[in-house]
Amino acid sequence: MTTSEKTLLDFAARKVADARHPVSFSGAGLSAESGVATFRDKSEDALWSKFDPTELASQAGFKSNPEMVIDWYNSRRRSVAMAKPNAAHLALASQKHWVHITQNVDQLLEAGGAEPADVLHLHGILSEDHCNANCGHSEHVDISAPTALYSCPNCGAPMRPSVVWFGEALSQDVLQAAVSAIRKADLLLVVGTSAMVRPAAGLIDLARENSADIIVVNTEQSSTLMAQDIELIGNAGVLIPALFKALR
Ligand code: OAD
Repeated sequence: MTTSEKTLLDFAARKVADARHPVSFSGAGLSAESGVATFRDKSEDALWSKFDPTELASQAGFKSNPEMVIDWYNSRRRSVAMAKPNAAHLALASQKHWVHITQNVDQLLEAGGAEPADVLHLHGILSEDHCNANCGHSEHVDISAPTALYSCPNCGAPMRPSVVWFGEALSQDVLQAAVSAIRKADLLLVVGTSAMVRPAAGLIDLARENSADIIVVNTEQSSTLMAQDIELIGNAGVLIPALFKALR
């Protein structure tokens, strides 16, 4: 680490240490070092460079080929089941009084020790299915051994993963809880997101409007960055623990 990088890290660490209402906002980059694929970055393994989101993550795609969609989610589930929380998850999860807003569906923050009540899943979770006709039925899924396409025992409609697909609304309860946390936040730590998907990414703007300090940790320069934000370029698994250790 160069002297200027160390100075910037210390400056960011001071903001973290002084924050009274800190919030993290994470994306797929947080779990990249756990071996979970990202969606859109320079990596050739990024999911949306290999697969078509309209076929695999939309109501239209599910209608036209439900088996293919479920098989794809089940392969992601099996890969997440083998993943372990990395140093960034562990460092975030060990902080008390933080709210963690995440776009990730892998629940690795909780696997790393975060209180489930402190984690807001904007885009849902892989470990649950619900009825695609919204009759209200949902089921826990063992992500290490997920079942193939099956029907809702209540109404016979196909069951689907409880994740948000393109064109679908986020859970209003979760979004409201995230907005409340952001309105209160004096610090937002943005980790490993391209910040291209709304309304999730709009939470960063809201935090800025509320004068929160923004720290962005990403392997590449982020499009979400504004002049007043603090940018730390590098792997989350290195920088997040360093951020919490820098002032000790
Ligand atoms: P993206 O794949 O769009 O962005 C991941 C970001 O993480 C990129 O900017 C990478 O540069 C960065 N990154 C990669 N490895 C990293 C590392 N080790 N440390 C730090 N940063 C790293 O993922 P998201 O922003 O989460 O939505 O994508 C948002 C949403 O788009 C997802 O929740 C998903 C997808 O479509 C749904 O499924 C609804």
